[in-house]
Amino acid sequence: MANVKFFSGNPLPLEMHKTRTVQKLTLLPVEQRRDAMLDAGCNTFLLQNRDVFLDMLTDSGTNAMSDKQVAAMMQADDSYAGSETFVRLQDACTHMFGTKFLLPAHQGRACENILAEAFVSEGSVVPMNFHFTTTKAHITRKGGSVEEILIDEGLNINSTHPFKGDIDMAKLEELVAKVGAENIPFVRIEAGTNLIGGQPVSMENFRAVSAFCRSKGIRFVIDASLLCDNLYFIKTREEACKDMDLVEITRELGCLADIIYFSARKLGCARGGAIVTNNRTMFEAMREFVPLFEGFLTYGGMSVREMEAMAVGLYESLDMDFIMQAPQFIQAFSDELQAKGVPVVTPAGGLGCHVNASAFLPHLDQSQYIAGALAAAVFVASGVRGMERGTMSEQREPDGTERFAEMELLRLALPKRVFSLSQIKYAADRLAWLFENRSLIGGLRYVEEPQIMRFFFGRLEPVGDWMDKLVAAFRRDFGDSL
Ligand code: F0G
Repeated sequence: MANVKFFSGNPLPLEMHKTRTVQKLTLLPVEQRRDAMLDAGCNTFLLQNRDVFLDMLTDSGTNAMSDKQVAAMMQADDSYAGSETFVRLQDACTHMFGTKFLLPAHQGRACENILAEAFVSEGSVVPMNFHFTTTKAHITRKGGSVEEILIDEGLNINSTHPFKGDIDMAKLEELVAKVGAENIPFVRIEAGTNLIGGQPVSMENFRAVSAFCRSKGIRFVIDASLLCDNLYFIKTREEACKDMDLVEITRELGCLADIIYFSARKLGCARGGAIVTNNRTMFEAMREFVPLFEGFLTYGGMSVREMEAMAVGLYESLDMDFIMQAPQFIQAFSDELQAKGVPVVTPAGGLGCHVNASAFLPHLDQSQYIAGALAAAVFVASGVRGMERGTMSEQREPDGTERFAEMELLRLALPKRVFSLSQIKYAADRLAWLFENRSLIGGLRYVEEPQIMRFFFGRLEPVGDWMDKLVAAFRRDFGDSL
């Protein structure tokens, strides 16, 4: 990692890259932002990007690619079978994880589908540090269930624990004793736990879970979609690993896990997905599902151009100068918000800055979708599109009752190398204004509610006329400013 000291004392996150291609942005007037939000059913997934100023919905497929990634796309080998591109991608995976076998799939959830098809059946129990929406949907679709065995500190929104994504070993042992190893198709660790604020997992925990799974004969699966930031945190927060090279860390993970899968829309800064393993039996158990659901074994539903970009992106994920930008900008964003009194998840994690919506809007009830209401209000106030990570993202219980999320968070994702520090300061400034005016913000209710993954395309409406009041307050305080 580049060691740069600042004369003025206050260190800034300093990018070790420069921008060479840009995309023009527009910021609509506040009334049009409100209208766009209402047209989108108060669901940020349904906004049109032309109406968005800073798109902090996700880092999925939206990270800036390097010049070398773009250049590599030009050498893609389009052969249906036996493509050279596949060989280059396989070499990149072998370099990173030391694994022999690669199953390509079109994105992360496609890998989850294959894992579920191969290993999950009626009554299966899958222990994990925390669920991700698509992971859980694939497991439950096959009749299995998910058990979260996160350390208690993981759900403590403001903590000093450096690895809030760790599995609680005592809970894991207890669960295995209760349900029986034979009913557990695999234990899953999500590196950089998405839904609790991008919180990392320690190397110590990866080692402990692996050793335990081996002793019980249970498969150990790592979801490495958010591994990049997790690597940064292992290097910078875990004393025992500070002298390890990043590639030593990833190769050790490759030994500890039986299977690693990832969304290459995140890891590798391209668009795709992959499953890697050293275990021939497991590889063969999953292999048939690739041509069935994805495409032939050497492209798995991906464009070969993206596969070339992904291969280069994986090598670049092992370069600290390249990967430090995102976590350092997220830290700066969190610090800026905290300094202005806005409640955020601490310590800052990966993926994005996570605003604690429950503390932001204490007057709202969870049944009114606190984090969804905050996401809608932030867009109206700023043109910044974030993502609800709370009750709206949960599925109802089979009997139709609401399942309240453990945390109500608004995620403001920072796709890698995309936004500048001044744009982050703008977003923090608008959030600080909104926090001052938080009493104006009301709740939401569903008007169209799909049964599965309702957060993607469900439509809601504001309870009462709070959005109009928010617009009036904005005009009062900002005059004719955008
Ligand atoms: N696992 C994790 C930890 C993820 O964050 C995601 C996607 C997936 C699996 C599924 O991968 O999107 O390529 O199918 N997370 C995105 C997000 C959607 O916005 O956080 P995918």
